[in-house]
Amino acid sequence: MPNDQDYVIEIEDLVKRFGDQTVLDGINLKVKPGETMVIMGGSGCGKSTLLRHMVGSLHPDEGRVKLFGEVLADMTDEQLDETRKKFGILFQSGALFQSLSVGDNVGLILEEHTDLDAAIIDFMVKIKLELVDLREASHKFPAQISGGMKKRAGLARALALDPKILFYDEPSAGLDPVTSAAIDRLIIDLTNKLGVASVVVTHEMDSAFAIADRMAMLNKGRVLMLDECKAFEVLRDWPEDRLDELDENRLLIRQFLRGDAEGPLTEEATGESSYAADLLGIDNSKLTGGRSIQTTRRVPVPGRTRGFFKRLFPGKTNDLTKSGQNKP
Ligand SMILES: Nc1ncnc2c1ncn2[C@@H]1O[C@H](COP(=O)(O)OP(=O)(O)O)[C@@H](O)[C@H]1O
Ligand SMILES: [Mg+2]
Repeated sequence: MPNDQDYVIEIEDLVKRFGDQTVLDGINLKVKPGETMVIMGGSGCGKSTLLRHMVGSLHPDEGRVKLFGEVLADMTDEQLDETRKKFGILFQSGALFQSLSVGDNVGLILEEHTDLDAAIIDFMVKIKLELVDLREASHKFPAQISGGMKKRAGLARALALDPKILFYDEPSAGLDPVTSAAIDRLIIDLTNKLGVASVVVTHEMDSAFAIADRMAMLNKGRVLMLDECKAFEVLRDWPEDRLDELDENRLLIRQFLRGDAEGPLTEEATGESSYAADLLGIDNSKLTGGRSIQTTRRVPVPGRTRGFFKRLFPGKTNDLTKSGQNKP
């Protein structure tokens, strides 16, 4: 039997109701370290609600959600804050602070959550922006960059604290096909490079098939199918003349995967609730530790900073740290 370390996320028998409506009705889902799990399903089927449970902004009525082996609902606020440092969230349009440059948007997270000195933070910001191919845009403000660049900047920010898991809710929503394909490539690239697990909610099938290791298909608050990407491909490409071999569920999934207008799904469409600016119900104050927005660099803590530099570049001396130590 696998132990806790085999999964970064474990969702067990999750039930969530809003009033009379049972939105999640016994969800079981586990995510392994480093894998990309795509969550699919029609509008209003509970994808975002499921994601909100994974980041601890909603708690189940029944069942459990564990991150890194710990039950989220049992955590104190402090423990939850610590756990939140281990995952990143890509908000729609990046949810950037408009008054801060791209670089400062990323640096802010590091200032709020670490004791790294200013020079190290600047260096880290460069690394994160490089990862998303945005180094040149560091000094630009959100209003001056394109939608795709905002997503990248949001991603750089989500990556600031070297998360073990990245959550995305509809990462290509509102982007043109070329830009959204570029975001897909970036997700794949980062997953490979950094070994982060990704949980991606999307109803864009091209994206889903491009990035998924495994997929989960939700319908009516339940997991209809959970399998390797390959198994979903087989279903998507299932020939017309052999449809009688598929049960009702498989027919439904096939229709969804193909984006067919006619079929069992059509009768069930519920209509999407308006997309809140804050996708996951976490406001920015949560992401920045609840403190005010300020760009003032923090006073460095030499010991920690040196340790950090050693971990990053073992065996090298660190001029950045030395300059930091001159300050009180
Ligand atoms: N905070 C809430 N209060 C009441 N109903 C909600 C709330 N959040 C979501 N819902 C309802 O739960 C259902 C699933 O919503 P959601 O998870 O956003 O769907 P999806 O992301 O799959 O489109 C919808 O019917 C929605 O109206
Ligand atoms: Mg949603």
